[in-house]
Amino acid sequence: MTIENPLDTLAAWADEAESAGLASPRTLTFATVGADGAPHARIVLSTVIDSQHVRFHSSRPTAKTRDIAENPRASAVFYWPDLSRQVILHGTATELDEATSRVAYPTRPRQLQLVAWAYDDVLTEVGVLGAQATPPEETTSRTVASDVPTSTERIAASVAHHGAQDPATLPMPGSWTTIAFVPDRVDLWQGVGPEVAAHKARYDKGADGTWQRSEILP
Ligand SMILES: Cc1cc2nc3c(=O)[nH]c(=O)nc-3n(C[C@H](O)[C@H](O)[C@H](O)COP(=O)(O)O)c2cc1C
Repeated sequence: MTIENPLDTLAAWADEAESAGLASPRTLTFATVGADGAPHARIVLSTVIDSQHVRFHSSRPTAKTRDIAENPRASAVFYWPDLSRQVILHGTATELDEATSRVAYPTRPRQLQLVAWAYDDVLTEVGVLGAQATPPEETTSRTVASDVPTSTERIAASVAHHGAQDPATLPMPGSWTTIAFVPDRVDLWQGVGPEVAAHKARYDKGADGTWQRSEILP
């Protein structure tokens, strides 16, 4: 018997959520663990869900890019309350090559392209990015974007500056990156109704790439 690929089901569920007009049909909570063992979770927006992986974009260095460089194991959750569905993923996350990001950047919404530049500008300003011989004392090689104080005005100035450039030729900031999350365990959770308990199926990927399915408590 052929076992379904649970990532195909995930893709179908995201498509259904989108077709139903639900809010944020492709957002997921993405959790990483740094070298110090502390967990970090945040929302990201997937741009690809296929039979192999979930892909999204980010800036570097953020807590997530630092964490996966140190420990590629990650976990993620999609949740569509109106469909009573949850998908829990465990796997390995890595940054893809720059060429992949260069192809994707022009396809991203203008606002997100400009936010990426705001990250780059602020991180360059404080010496986290760029070829500064001596970074300022307050930044270290482990400083990530969320460690850097900024202001709405500073971000607005960056957005105004890059927003004035021709959108057709706005280059990709060097700190923009693409993360591929490849799950090896997928739990598909489906609420059944008020009188029937939810149903949860677990899929584990074997060394040969095939998925094994078991039913577990919801
Ligand atoms: C709806 C929504 C979508 C988001 N999408 C992304 C995204 O695709 N990539 C990203 O890096 N951050 C995204 N963010 C911001 C992250 O949640 C987070 O604040 C940021 O990436 C820094 O996270 P980190 O320092 O923990 O890595 C999004 C936030 C929200 C609320």
